[in-house]
Amino acid sequence: MRHALLSPLLSLAVSALASCTLASPPSQPASPTPPRNVLDEHSHAEPKRARVVHVDLDLNLDFAAKRIAGYAELRIERPDPEAPLILDVKGLEIELITGSDGGIRPFQLGEEHDNLGGSLTIRLKPDDELVRIHYSTVPTSEALQWLSPEQTAGGKAPFLFSQGQSVLTRSWIPLQDSPGVRVTYTARVQAPDGLVPVMSADSSERLEDGSSMFRMTSPIPPYLIAIACGDLEFEAISERCGVWADPSIVASAAKELEDTESMIANAEKLFGPYRWGRYDLLILPPAFPFGGMENPCMTFATPTILAGDKSLVSLVAHELAHSWSGNLVTNATWSDFWLNEGSTVYFEARIMEEVFGAERAIMENQLSFNGLKRELEGTSERDSILHIDLKGRHPDDGFSGIPYNKGALFLRRLEEVFGRADFDRFLRAWFDGHAFQSVTTAEFVSFLGTELLAPKPELAAQVDVEKWIYGSGLPDTAPVVPSSALAQVDAELKTYSSGKSAAGELNTDGWVTGQWLHFLEGLPAELSMEAMSDLDATFGFTGNGNSEILCVWFRLSVKHGYAAADEKLEAFLARVGRAKFLIPLYTALVKVSPERARELYARMRPRYHAVAHANLDRIVGASESAE
Ligand code: BES
Ligand code: ZN
Repeated sequence: MRHALLSPLLSLAVSALASCTLASPPSQPASPTPPRNVLDEHSHAEPKRARVVHVDLDLNLDFAAKRIAGYAELRIERPDPEAPLILDVKGLEIELITGSDGGIRPFQLGEEHDNLGGSLTIRLKPDDELVRIHYSTVPTSEALQWLSPEQTAGGKAPFLFSQGQSVLTRSWIPLQDSPGVRVTYTARVQAPDGLVPVMSADSSERLEDGSSMFRMTSPIPPYLIAIACGDLEFEAISERCGVWADPSIVASAAKELEDTESMIANAEKLFGPYRWGRYDLLILPPAFPFGGMENPCMTFATPTILAGDKSLVSLVAHELAHSWSGNLVTNATWSDFWLNEGSTVYFEARIMEEVFGAERAIMENQLSFNGLKRELEGTSERDSILHIDLKGRHPDDGFSGIPYNKGALFLRRLEEVFGRADFDRFLRAWFDGHAFQSVTTAEFVSFLGTELLAPKPELAAQVDVEKWIYGSGLPDTAPVVPSSALAQVDAELKTYSSGKSAAGELNTDGWVTGQWLHFLEGLPAELSMEAMSDLDATFGFTGNGNSEILCVWFRLSVKHGYAAADEKLEAFLARVGRAKFLIPLYTALVKVSPERARELYARMRPRYHAVAHANLDRIVGASESAE
């Protein structure tokens, strides 16, 4: 059974396509990582025998039929010349497959599995170095979400985006969908007139026939191949960085995200050069199921981070950090997911500290820590392990605050013990030494041992690496620096909870988003209707424009039966598809009234992406048996 895509991950016109060609070519190795001896149980492929190294796509985006159709030409290496080529596919219609000489090659589709799709086995001829697969997606292809114009900011044009992580790329491209099988790619994309396609590529150009050509020249894991298309405009932030968004919001988005260049420069100072050429952000319609997705050169982000006061831009620091931790050095299997996310959360905080100062970074760290503590209470032992056992499970079962926040705490503990200078040198060496490779937890542990631990055994004795990575729960050496900004909130909460003061008497002058979130999370477990009305009248939560604050407030409103927030809550559920918000809200709704939750969800479900369905179907569906 799938697990919730968790809640407490706190973090708080057609502009010339030519504008996104490379400022300077990225440095990368000539060919992708050689095959390694890692079994990815979430892929059918056998890359040690026949391996995809490059993909050329030629695709037509058909919005009316909700289909992408065309071909994928795969360049392959064949360590075992006898072996067939085995790919991952999910719900694809395969029309025809040809080999290097243009002749037809026989193929077989294996039975499809709910979680992992099926295998596509292609019989090769001895000289085949290429196969071309003519195929189309189906309207229900899980990676893709086709949005109606009403679901976009401008309301004028439809929108398409893909979400590949973890195992959904196979639902729009037939390939070896394993994070250990890195590929370079090109794509020629034909989109309807007036709509702009963008991809996770390091260069793009408009061709004479009106189609667009994209190239990703660094080898990336397949989950990072991404496409979006809609009424998009570009606004530059710096020479190498800018924002793509609906024309109606592009200027305000660029303003909100104007610190991105400074984030890149600071990240480079910490952990080495940014190796991908451009760094652009794409602001998606609110149906996007995540806060952000680190598609290389083009982070995909929810518009719910645009709070108007830069209070939620740590998400950009996070997705940018993945340009090192995750995209440059990638988890080899989904059991190693903590390597991607834990180091990214650590790195995110370091960037935030450089750009916005230590106080903010400390506050955001403590909020994440509090969230992790709450989450651990409801997490089984086996799921609180960093190197998670996913045998027979969906990779997204490992998606929780554990890989993120416990992972980051482990790195913070290493920093605390070995000191910043040595730890930074270690991390920099890790990224440099494994650039464009996919790595396992065992490889990390071994590198950690030789580079950081072995030279200083007396310090190494203070970090129980085994326990951090393979043990459940949180070691009590987890380092937390108390935030004075949150301590102020605690003082007000104490007064409020003792019943001595009404909301209006609290001192909330100058509170920032993180403080409001801490306040809401710390309110007494029981609140009367009068108390809820008083809080709302005093602080205007129901009408708040900050999505993180709204989400916590709506959850409390549902819990305490505060119906005055219902209208806004329903509008929020109709507009926003971010799983991080939907999961706690539907969970709260189901608890209070399963029928209402089901009725609402039935209405809203078509607006949400497949990755949100997977969790919400379980949460809302589960209400039947809970009755
Ligand atoms: N790579 C993740 C999103 C993801 C993880 C998608 C697993 C599918 C499977 C992304 O970098 C992420 O962590 N997003 C968070 C951002 C937050 C922690 C700042 C999100 O979407 O909330
Ligand atoms: Zn991440």
